[in-house]
Amino acid sequence: MSNKNDNNQKNGLPGLLKNLLHGTTEVRSKKTGPDLRGKVVLVTGSSRGLGYLLAREFGREGCRVVITARDAVELDRAEKDLKSQGLEIKALPCDLSQKDDVERLIDHATAYFGRIDILVNNAGIIQVGPENTMTLENFEQAMNIDFWGAVYPTFKVLPQMRQRGSGQIVNITSIGGKVALPHLLPYTAAKFAATGFSEGLRTEVAKDGISVTTIVPGLMRTGSFLNAYFKGDQAKEFGWFTLGSTLPGISMDAERAAAQIVEATKLKKAERILSVPANVLARFNGLFPGTTQEILTMVNTVGLPKSQSKQPGEGVRGAKVEDAASNPIFEALTTLGRSAANRFRQHPGPVNLEK
Ligand SMILES: NC(=O)c1ccc[n+]([C@@H]2O[C@H](COP(=O)([O-])OP(=O)(O)OC[C@H]3O[C@@H](n4cnc5c(N)ncnc54)[C@H](OP(=O)(O)O)[C@@H]3O)[C@@H](O)[C@H]2O)c1
Repeated sequence: MSNKNDNNQKNGLPGLLKNLLHGTTEVRSKKTGPDLRGKVVLVTGSSRGLGYLLAREFGREGCRVVITARDAVELDRAEKDLKSQGLEIKALPCDLSQKDDVERLIDHATAYFGRIDILVNNAGIIQVGPENTMTLENFEQAMNIDFWGAVYPTFKVLPQMRQRGSGQIVNITSIGGKVALPHLLPYTAAKFAATGFSEGLRTEVAKDGISVTTIVPGLMRTGSFLNAYFKGDQAKEFGWFTLGSTLPGISMDAERAAAQIVEATKLKKAERILSVPANVLARFNGLFPGTTQEILTMVNTVGLPKSQSKQPGEGVRGAKVEDAASNPIFEALTTLGRSAANRFRQHPGPVNLEK
């Protein structure tokens, strides 16, 4: 059946123990894993940020890659950029929160390349602000993209994978899907749901030859602070979030994150927590959940901005509050993040500047 069984048969009990310890269906000594050349990969949320880098990384591995996002103009620009690097790319716009749209996407992608071998559920949104500014709609928006936006494509692609007896689903969740972080409540609730879905699915589809990998990034320098939504004291919320997703030591280089995700995909890992801070936080919370919540309560009380009332709407995009938060020290501290935003396509093109 699977490589796991082959390995277990070859290596006996030690092989089985090794696989269990490392949560992998491949022998760990094969550091770079099997060749992905010729595989068809669909990466959601790939017009910018981590998704764009994953599409590029899979393309460089010799994969044929379908990229998707809502904004057709930005997606088209990303497709041109990736094709100009000699990669085999097809762009298909889609709103992942709409089930029918997702079904059309999977049908078109399958018809275009003949099949989908690897689905990478990467698309996500993040709203930053205190709990008392968040509306029910904010929770629904987060669930619609960060949870349903992974479940819809997975359900649609599983039958073809089952039929072939092979396939991979890679879910990009978040450290916010393992540890409940303040000022990110809709996001953290939706990411917990996505993590549960991903981990549970792995245990049930292994019998069909399908592997599911849960990727748990900590903060990464994707430049996404420009496209995140801010509520409450928007400039201050933008300030702490942008610093966190920029400062080295706290945040991780996004290209390195993409390379590690592709490696985890090759090795069919059960889980990969990216970055040292995310690993420390996840493990500490696993051992001491009460203490973690006490510490985060203190961080929230002492360190995070306050705001008085509910605010309707989805919040304001980072690109629109950037100027209000700016000063020379902030500019200097966020140099790496702003450089990432430029390189990883976070700035809308001329047609979309007004959005
Ligand atoms: N950056 C971090 O520090 C960090 C940390 C932990 C986890 N993560 C996770 O990593 C993933 C990528 O993050 P990122 O920083 O690269 O985000 P990003 O730069 O904001 O990119 C998000 C992508 O998702 C697409 N998208 C959003 N809503 C969509 C929808 N309804 N339908 C289809 N596409 C949609 C966006 O394009 P459109 O807007 O055009 O649709 C864009 O291509 C997310 O799941 C995020 O939660 C990020």
